[in-house]
Amino acid sequence: MTDGLPTEIDLSRPSAARVYDYFLGGAHNFEIDRQLAEQIASMTPNLAATMRAGREFLRRAVRALLDAGIDQFLDIGSGIPTVGNVHEVAQAANPKARVVYVDIDPVAVAHSRELLAGNDLTGVIHADLRQPEAILAASRAMGLLDLDRPVGILLAGVVHFVPDADRPADLLATLRAAAAPGSFLVVSHSTFEDQPQEMLDAQRLSARTATEITLRSRAEITGFFGDWTILEPGVVHMPLWRPDSPSDVDAHPERFGAFGGVARYDQPAG
Ligand SMILES: C[S@@+](CC[C@H](N)C(=O)[O-])C[C@H]1O[C@@H](n2cnc3c(N)ncnc32)[C@H](O)[C@@H]1O
Repeated sequence: MTDGLPTEIDLSRPSAARVYDYFLGGAHNFEIDRQLAEQIASMTPNLAATMRAGREFLRRAVRALLDAGIDQFLDIGSGIPTVGNVHEVAQAANPKARVVYVDIDPVAVAHSRELLAGNDLTGVIHADLRQPEAILAASRAMGLLDLDRPVGILLAGVVHFVPDADRPADLLATLRAAAAPGSFLVVSHSTFEDQPQEMLDAQRLSARTATEITLRSRAEITGFFGDWTILEPGVVHMPLWRPDSPSDVDAHPERFGAFGGVARYDQPAG
């Protein structure tokens, strides 16, 4: 332990990042992760599609931020690098775009560092969303992001790993307070709203990973944006957030079990 975070890979329990990697077809997972993944998958047959819907939402949100002129991103809970990573999406549109990835999972961090070696405009931080000041201090020290300029803060599929006892709304308020006007916040978050029972049962299985998922209401998730301006179409089931084409929207967008939204920090008048 150097930074208060686990550096050893704990093979006695499944890891959320490695279970997620398995669902996305990655190679960075172990038997204990695959067993839990298969159990969750057998209970929620559309889980792989859900994971893809999450990545697709993130891609569309990052593109929207790039269109708005954002050229630096802080991606917290970034996970194990898979195809369509934020820096790939961002640097395809703007080769000078900078991305700092943050994750609590040592496997995710190690693989991110390996994948990004040689990409000078990206960095990786091993840190916990529950310590936002440490994330901000580490990203300042890294010198890649300039927090005096607008930044895109990305929290895709991660805030539901923070239980209410750790005051997620306060953590997000700390991150928002460090951002300059013109910054954006992207959040996607699992919900119990509009969900069938089998989805709720699968969620209970997450208690076996190092981090349990807390499902939240649309109102709670909307609250994470504070007083920032929520962009159209609001906090919606992920496929409904600015689909590339209307035909991309599933007949049951609620079946992916997560809301997504994007907000902008508008300079207060006066
Ligand atoms: C479901 S994955 C999402 C990956 C990526 N953001 C995406 O949308 O495709 C969630 C990630 O959040 C990380 N995570 C969970 N709790 C965290 C915390 N307290 N601080 C930082 N990362 C965390 C996990 O290790 C995992 O890699």
